[in-house]
Amino acid sequence: MSKKSLVFSGVQPTGNLHLGNYLGALKNFVSLQKDMNCIYCVVDLHAITVFQKPNVLRDNVLETVASFLATGLDPNKSIIFNQSSVSGHAELAWILNCVSRIGWLNRMTQFKDKAGSDKEKASVGLYIYPNLMAADILLYKATHVPVGADQKQHLELSRDIALKFNSDFGCKDFFPLPEPLIPKNISRVMSLRDGTKKMSKSEESDYSRINLKDSADEIIKKIKKAKSDSAPIPNSLKELEKKPEALNLLTIYSEISKINLDKILDEMSGKDYSFLKNKLADLLIGEIAPVGNEIKKLMGDKTHLLKVLKKGNEKARNLAEENLKNIREKVGLI
Ligand code: TRP
Repeated sequence: MSKKSLVFSGVQPTGNLHLGNYLGALKNFVSLQKDMNCIYCVVDLHAITVFQKPNVLRDNVLETVASFLATGLDPNKSIIFNQSSVSGHAELAWILNCVSRIGWLNRMTQFKDKAGSDKEKASVGLYIYPNLMAADILLYKATHVPVGADQKQHLELSRDIALKFNSDFGCKDFFPLPEPLIPKNISRVMSLRDGTKKMSKSEESDYSRINLKDSADEIIKKIKKAKSDSAPIPNSLKELEKKPEALNLLTIYSEISKINLDKILDEMSGKDYSFLKNKLADLLIGEIAPVGNEIKKLMGDKTHLLKVLKKGNEKARNLAEENLKNIREKVGLI
């Protein structure tokens, strides 16, 4: 990737990040930071598209920063900041609201899922959420956006908005068209109770997910209880693919052990799932428990977390202001 490339991604401050966030996003962020300029944003303005208790939101923003640091993001290499502290996000979002089309937003499947059956009662913010996401990315002229597969449609919308802006204002290559970076092997970590659903903070049962802050005992209990299959581990991927819960456990194992699935099946086919589960619990404890301990430790020193944010906010604001100046000029705003 060229020197001009810039990575941007956002994470919602939901608190209590889990294995899905870790394997699907955070680990990827850390590896990108090695060779590229990266900006990682805690998207608090996206969070308030559904009501958040103010004191809980504040805490969750800090906990998300703590999770970034605990997984290995380095504030000296990457810009780590929170969205609302750089007002350019909201300003550009407004401009892009006027570029984006109602018909485009009406196609967004995430809005349909999140708004539920009574769309009339959803906030307007939830509806135009994807325009704000486009603003996040375009404000920095980011070129690459690591996201989970569920955000692909929003990223395509960002590209459409960038294209339309460039064409409406006669500035062909002004906004680069951002490209998604979707992890190949594990774009989705599924629920431990239902292999057809994404692992999610909002699923009622805590047994459906491994939280980054889970203790070793909790990890063991959850993996033991995880749904698998009554038949032994199959010998082919094709067979495995018919069993979503088993596939999920093996995929997680593969992702953390760095051994590919075929090889794992060679070793494990014919064995009971308890064999896999013991090994998987050990691996997870080795990888996740230290991260959880670090998050807890960091949350004990909020002054430090606020300092990290302050430094990141300043860097982000400088970049944003520079770009915004040009954007305002293109649009004809004095
Ligand atoms: N919508 C993303 C999610 O829920 C979060 C997000 C907001 C984001 N702004 C972004 C991701 C910009 C990538 C780039 O996961």
